[in-house]
Amino acid sequence: MTECTERSPAIVATDVSRIYQLEGVSVPALRGVSLTVEPGDYLAIVGTSGSGKSTLMHLLGGLDRPTTGTLVIGGRDVATLSAPEMARLRNETVGFVFQSFHLLARTTALDNVALPLVYRGLGRRERRERAMAMLQRVGLAHRMNHRPNQMSGGEQQRVAIARALVTDPSVLLADEPTGNLDSATGQSILSLLESLNAEGVAVVLVTHERDVAARARRQIVMRDGLIVAGDPVSSAGWSSADTPEESSAPPSSVEAAP
Ligand SMILES: Nc1ncnc2c1ncn2[C@@H]1O[C@H](COP(=O)(O)OP(=O)(O)OP(=O)(O)O)[C@@H](O)[C@H]1O
Ligand SMILES: [Mg+2]
Repeated sequence: MTECTERSPAIVATDVSRIYQLEGVSVPALRGVSLTVEPGDYLAIVGTSGSGKSTLMHLLGGLDRPTTGTLVIGGRDVATLSAPEMARLRNETVGFVFQSFHLLARTTALDNVALPLVYRGLGRRERRERAMAMLQRVGLAHRMNHRPNQMSGGEQQRVAIARALVTDPSVLLADEPTGNLDSATGQSILSLLESLNAEGVAVVLVTHERDVAARARRQIVMRDGLIVAGDPVSSAGWSSADTPEESSAPPSSVEAAP
């Protein structure tokens, strides 16, 4: 249904800004960011707290629109889309994994995973079959009837990943997917994301952990609403004038991946 071909970029953000309005005050969370996500990409976004990472992820996932600049998802300029068209594009193109899982509390793992398929108009039986297959894929078939509070953090995160993948998206956006997990569980979530990436799903993840970021094929570093290192660097890019004590995202970490 889209005009996008196999080889065209999955997502292209060109000079996007996002300015929140809060009680009459403008909060510029993004101040001119350009970024392309290619099919099959594996991109890590790092940067200090408040630098705009989640805001950028929300834009890339079509959960929000830029204040200025151009955002093209799956070949479609979001400025031309109505809210229902945006919802449909999201449902067809991207999967989103949040740090805090965002699962429905009173709903079983199986029904949480099946939920995005409701918007596809699939019948209950097919929804449950596909959700079951996806739970199997993340190693949780035996937890299908558990509700979130009956599962561990790692299991809930795997349910969230299964829900993000059940619509067969070309891009998986994960905002600190290992942030709430112990390191062994975090490693298994990362391995899962990497095996999906090996199958061709583009993965974009936000992380505070340098060893996690180093595993990605590309890294970008954000600060104060700008990409200050990585590719492409904004014109107002990183300079020695930036506070040197910020250790979470030094420019030397860029392209450190093997
Ligand atoms: N809904 C909102 N209204 C007003 N300001 C907001 C809103 N959401 C975020 N902000 C502000 O925008 C800036 C960027 O926020 P964002 O959540 O993108 O940061 P982040 O890089 O994801 O940080 P963290 O690492 O802590 O998750 C912050 O200064 C934040 O206070
Ligand atoms: Mg965030």
